[in-house]
Amino acid sequence: MTERVVLAYSGGLDTSVAIGWIGAETGAEVIALAVDVGQGGEDLEVIRQRALACGAVEAIVVDAREEFATSFVAPAIKANALYMDRYPLISSLSRPIIVKHLVAAAREHGADAIAHGCTGKGNDQVRFEVGVMALAPNLRVLAPVRDSGMTRDKAIAFAEERGLPIDVTKKSPYSIDQNLWGRTAECGILEDPWAQPPEDVFVYTADPTVARTPDEVTISFTDGVPTALDGRQLPLVDLIAELNRRAGAHGVGRIDMIEDRLVGIKSREIYECPAAITLLTAHRDLEDLTLERDLARFKRGIDQRWGELVYDGLWYSPLKAALDAFVDSASAGVSGDVRIRLAGGVAQVVGRRSPHSLYDH
Ligand code: ARG
Repeated sequence: MTERVVLAYSGGLDTSVAIGWIGAETGAEVIALAVDVGQGGEDLEVIRQRALACGAVEAIVVDAREEFATSFVAPAIKANALYMDRYPLISSLSRPIIVKHLVAAAREHGADAIAHGCTGKGNDQVRFEVGVMALAPNLRVLAPVRDSGMTRDKAIAFAEERGLPIDVTKKSPYSIDQNLWGRTAECGILEDPWAQPPEDVFVYTADPTVARTPDEVTISFTDGVPTALDGRQLPLVDLIAELNRRAGAHGVGRIDMIEDRLVGIKSREIYECPAAITLLTAHRDLEDLTLERDLARFKRGIDQRWGELVYDGLWYSPLKAALDAFVDSASAGVSGDVRIRLAGGVAQVVGRRSPHSLYDH
């Protein structure tokens, strides 16, 4: 018997319908939780009110942007995290922080289950469930879209029947997930791996083929973490937001790839991550300047494993914790400045310097 459920709420059609759907199916009270990881878009208070209007007994919004940057993105930068050498783990990094807040809310409000709106085809269902199992094995997980036939058509019918305040026509042709670290797009025409992505897929980046005057940024790192932009000390969350704008304006960070999902599917993915690609490029270059050779060689393997673990939903796992300790140790001294030119879709390192440089002229 489930009595109270905390639902990972986005404000969209599926999770809005899920509130009433779960109530109708299980009789449980639903608490909606929306986590701000820098996804932008609608105001979170609007989203909160919508959850209440859809029947949630309680609706909570958490501004987790700063925590996302410092506790989830920063470790990924230190680990040069690129799954399959290309994907900077945009969604993979946000799931564990959402899980953390879901579990905290469940404890605070005496809930005995967590719910998510994922389908059965993607990685996110696994990340939510494995994360919850790691942090709170006593909590049950409900997945109405995957397990109780809440298809899109049924969700629309449900919303119309009950007069839920959701615009059912406002549907992107793609499945989108976005946060401070980037934007992901799947589905629709993108499922044909031969089809070129239409320009309307892209939101974080301008068309890189349009000629513009190049920009140049200097990124300063302290022990592997970006701390300043052009000499201005900035909180990581602000530094990333500014770089998304500046690098995005030059079309930096577009990725079109075939990805090996952990659920055993190959999928075609379009990513936009201007700040991520710029920072990861700069960080890797600074490591080349400051890390001793054997440490650098060994760290490549650790970095790859770190990215795979996080991709596979194992953020809260003993191996990940141990690899973090290695990465932290290796990152001590990865400090200095990297100069990057942003132009034509490319973040090109044009200079680097460090008090810990091992380069001998
Ligand atoms: N394929 C990427 C990943 O597994 C992106 C997932 C995006 N999620 C979504 N619900 N649209 O990390």
